[in-house]
Amino acid sequence: MSPSQQSHSNVTSSIIAVIAASCGWILREKYEQQKRSRNSKYEIPNDLQSGDHIEEMKLAVKLAIQAGGNMIEYLEQKGTDAENGESTLGISSKSNDADFCTAIDIQNEDLVTKALSSTFPTHQIIGEESTGTDKPAPLTNEPTWIIDPIDGTTNFAAGCPLTCVSIGYCIKGEPVMGVVFSPKTEELYLAMNGKGAYRNGERISVNSCQSKTLSNSVVCFEFGSSRAKEGVDKMMGAAKRLLMHGCRSTRSYGSGVLDLCYVASTRLDVVYTGMYEEGWKPWDYCAGMVIAEEAGCIIRSLKGDGKVKEFDDERKVILDSKFDIYSDSMICGVNTTVVEQCRNVVLGIHHNQA
Ligand code: IPD
Ligand code: CA
Repeated sequence: MSPSQQSHSNVTSSIIAVIAASCGWILREKYEQQKRSRNSKYEIPNDLQSGDHIEEMKLAVKLAIQAGGNMIEYLEQKGTDAENGESTLGISSKSNDADFCTAIDIQNEDLVTKALSSTFPTHQIIGEESTGTDKPAPLTNEPTWIIDPIDGTTNFAAGCPLTCVSIGYCIKGEPVMGVVFSPKTEELYLAMNGKGAYRNGERISVNSCQSKTLSNSVVCFEFGSSRAKEGVDKMMGAAKRLLMHGCRSTRSYGSGVLDLCYVASTRLDVVYTGMYEEGWKPWDYCAGMVIAEEAGCIIRSLKGDGKVKEFDDERKVILDSKFDIYSDSMICGVNTTVVEQCRNVVLGIHHNQA
C-alpha cells in the first residue's frame, strides 16, 4: 500500500470509529432517556404527596413496580424463539383448570406481604394466594392491605399485556388507597381518598362522559372461571340482552382490576360482574375501586345481593344500593344513567324502557 493509500485508509478507519462511537453514544443516551422518562412517569404526583396515606403509597408503588418486574421477562419472551413454554411458569390449579396461579403469583405475593409486614408490623394483610380457595378473611377496623399479586393470570400465562399487580389499602373497613401497576403496558394507576386518581402522573377522570347512555357505551364483563351450564347461560343471556338492546360494543379484557382502571380512564364505559359465579373477590375490587371512585365513576352492587330493598315495588332498581368489596356482584360506570340502564338490561328488568 502506498503512503497516500495508507493515510487514506487511516482517515476512513478514524471516521468509522467516530461514527461507531457516536452511534453507541446515541443509543446509550436514548436508553438513558427512556429510563429517565419511565422513572418519572412512575413518580407520585404532588397532590397525592400531601395525602394521609403517603408513606403506605410510597411503599406500595415500590413493591408493585418490583413485582411487575418479575413478570416482564416471561411476558416479553412468550411467543418468541426465546420462549421456554408455559411449563416454566409452575402452574398450579385452584378450584378448577380455568382457575390457576403461577409461581410468579406466589413469588409476588411473598415479596409484597413480607415487605409490608416488616414496615407495618401491626397491619393486616389479605392476599389472593395466601387465601387460596378459602373464604377471604373479614375486614376489621385495623389498617388492612388487600393484594392481588397478579390480576389477569390467564393473560399473563398467554403473554397478553393486560395483566397487573394490585395493592389496595383499607382503613376502618373502607378502601382508601389503590396502587395498580401494569408492567407490560407501563402504566401505574394511583388513587387516594379525596385526592384524585392518576395514570402515570396524569390526573384521570370520567368528566367527559357525563352525557353517555348505554346505546353509545362500551360494556365490559368477564366470564370468570365457572363453567357450570346455569352460569354460562346466565352470563350469555345478559350479554345477549345487552347486544339486542344496543350498546356500542362489548369487551372481556381478562383482568377485573384493569377493567376498573379502564372505566376510570374512559377506555370502557361500564363493567359489571356477578351474574352467577363469575363474581369477583375483594382483591379484584379494592385498589381499582378507589381509582374508579376518585375518577368520578359510580359503583353499585349489581344485584343487591338479595336485599329486596335494592328494588322498589315495580322492581325498579334503587340508586343508592351501596357496594362493598365482599359482595360478588358489582357494576361500575362513567355515570349513573349508564350504570342504571346497563343494570336493568343485564338483569332483564324493564328491558324495553332501558
Ligand atoms: C381474575 C380476573 C378475571 C375475573 C376473575 C378474576 P386472576 O383474577 O380478574 O378477569 O373474571 O373473576 O378471578 O385470577 O387473574 O387474579
Ligand atoms: Ca390473581
